[in-house]
Amino acid sequence: MSLDKVIVVTGASAGIGAAFAKLAAKRGASLVLVARRETELRAVAAECGANALVVVADVTKRADHERVLTEAISRFGHVDVWINNAGRGMSIATQALTDDDFDEMMRVNVKSALYGMQTAVAHFQERGTGHVINVSSLLGRVPFATFRSAYCAAKHALNALTACLRVDVSRSHPGVHVSTVSPGVVATEFGVNAIGGGPDSRTMPGSQTAEEVAAVILDVVEHPRADAYTRPGAREMIAAYYAAEDLAELEKG
Ligand SMILES: NC(=O)c1ccc[n+]([C@@H]2O[C@H](COP(=O)([O-])OP(=O)(O)OC[C@H]3O[C@@H](n4cnc5c(N)ncnc54)[C@H](OP(=O)(O)O)[C@@H]3O)[C@@H](O)[C@H]2O)c1
Repeated sequence: MSLDKVIVVTGASAGIGAAFAKLAAKRGASLVLVARRETELRAVAAECGANALVVVADVTKRADHERVLTEAISRFGHVDVWINNAGRGMSIATQALTDDDFDEMMRVNVKSALYGMQTAVAHFQERGTGHVINVSSLLGRVPFATFRSAYCAAKHALNALTACLRVDVSRSHPGVHVSTVSPGVVATEFGVNAIGGGPDSRTMPGSQTAEEVAAVILDVVEHPRADAYTRPGAREMIAAYYAAEDLAELEKG
């Protein structure tokens, strides 16, 4: 069945966002591809076919989100789904974090999505229908990778904001959905792009492909739900973590 939806994807120039865009395009969706690198975005658009619009934008700037929406409406008339996928890692332990480090993680992983949510949901409320999907991380549930301290904190904050928005919006606009998708390690350039270096996600044991994660996001588009994990067993692992009588025992590994 064809996916007759207009979908905004941030972070569409690479990794998970690019894989999702290509998959959704194959299924018939119209795509609005957002990121800062125009050449890479255009290469992804070329693989998505005629119904792909490139919007070069920096998601850490509120005004850029308004421009994305305006350009999407002017090309396609409306937006059905807005995926806040752009994000960045950081490998700096808590004790070594500077103010700028922490602010940067909140800017690129939380405020970016906040601007996207506020922009998209206002449009969806006018239409009475729509779907926001925020790409978070397992590290937004369980801070297992302590060297990614501020990134873990940012994704935890993103999850809280997402849940608060979902509850508020579901009361006034039941046709508007708000979802979190939490991947584990994915074989993208995420690791090499992380501030402060750290492991390369492409060679980490047990990493999923961007295409596997894209398929889960597409399933959430087709079957809206609050929370989705891309790895089998993730939900049980998280439940066990929070059920522990003493977290320190678990943290010994
Ligand atoms: N890979 C993993 O192991 C993993 C695991 C869990 C969660 N995630 C999450 O998955 C999402 C996608 O990550 P990925 O693995 O696909 O990483 P990636 O390959 O590094 O891609 C990141 C994307 O975000 C875009 N981006 C970064 N900063 C931006 C900004 N300020 N404005 C606009 N776009 C920006 C990049 O495009 P430009 O550079 O062109 O702007 C790129 O398209 C992120 O939210 C990440 O936290 C990843």
